[in-house]
Amino acid sequence: MSTDKSTQTTHDAEEDARNRDIKIYVNGDIVHRDDAKVSVYDSGFMLGDGMWEGLRLYNGKWAFFDEHMDRFFNSCKTVSLDVGMTKDEILDALNRTAAANGMTDNAHCRMMLTRGIKDKPFQHPGLSRSGPTMVIIVEHSKPADSLMSKGIRLATVPQVRGLPMSQDAKLNSHSKLNCIIACLQAEAAGADEALMLDPHGFVNTTNACNFFIVRRGEVWSSTGDYCMNGVTRQKVIDLCRDNGIPIREKNYSLYEAYGADEAFLTGTFGAQTPVASIDEKSIGDGERPMTKRIRQLYKDLIDRTTRSA
Ligand SMILES: Cc1ncc(COP(=O)(O)O)c(C=O)c1O
Repeated sequence: MSTDKSTQTTHDAEEDARNRDIKIYVNGDIVHRDDAKVSVYDSGFMLGDGMWEGLRLYNGKWAFFDEHMDRFFNSCKTVSLDVGMTKDEILDALNRTAAANGMTDNAHCRMMLTRGIKDKPFQHPGLSRSGPTMVIIVEHSKPADSLMSKGIRLATVPQVRGLPMSQDAKLNSHSKLNCIIACLQAEAAGADEALMLDPHGFVNTTNACNFFIVRRGEVWSSTGDYCMNGVTRQKVIDLCRDNGIPIREKNYSLYEAYGADEAFLTGTFGAQTPVASIDEKSIGDGERPMTKRIRQLYKDLIDRTTRSA
């Protein structure tokens, strides 16, 4: 059991003083972060009414740009949010923002689109009369090395992943309250991140990443219901299939998670982050050969896809 109680998150990055002066894209303008502002009447600020994507820049290219755009446009269509830009125009905006900051690598982007500025401070989407609002923040970002060596401590929490007819977990919406409540519960339990169950009690996902376990040479993830359709999750599944690693998307319980040989999280920011413990029970012996293998396969994939023309 880990005795180190210092707080960490899966999005811990090395300190980079350059982020103090980055330039941010706001509706076509690229301005110093101190001048990057949206209205208090903005639908995103007021109601969490918006969609976002997290992307990473490697070798001057946005990794898996098409996959991120598929999810983004699908999410926006689902909530009748008119993007107002084509995929190519978004790519141009992302590239202009990175160029304005002199970034080609080790950079992480949060691209956010809201329904725009409301006429009145009420919920009805029809009150969002001028929009949308597009903001692109790109930060210098190198995941902290300590995450790889120490691993993340998870705690299972009472907050569950809901059914798709309440708020579909596939919507990467500005409103993340379900996940934030879960994260607060995990923090109160002394952990770094929350392991969330589905409404039937099967292990599903964490509050900010997708979740995998390794058991007896097989890699397991949830069925994919109730969790974010993570781009990194799908890449890991595809890499396993392409490299002869047994991969199963299935229901399983905490029984199998506690007894796993390895566990890891996936997300655009940290790629694959090892899990040290769940509910203070150590996972495996800390060697993590499968996690290391998958990390290397993923790194190679990024290299291949971002270095090609
Ligand atoms: C709740 C949640 N799970 C998982 C992920 C990881 O998705 P991806 O691999 O596309 O970054 C995200 C990222 O947006 C997320 O918000």
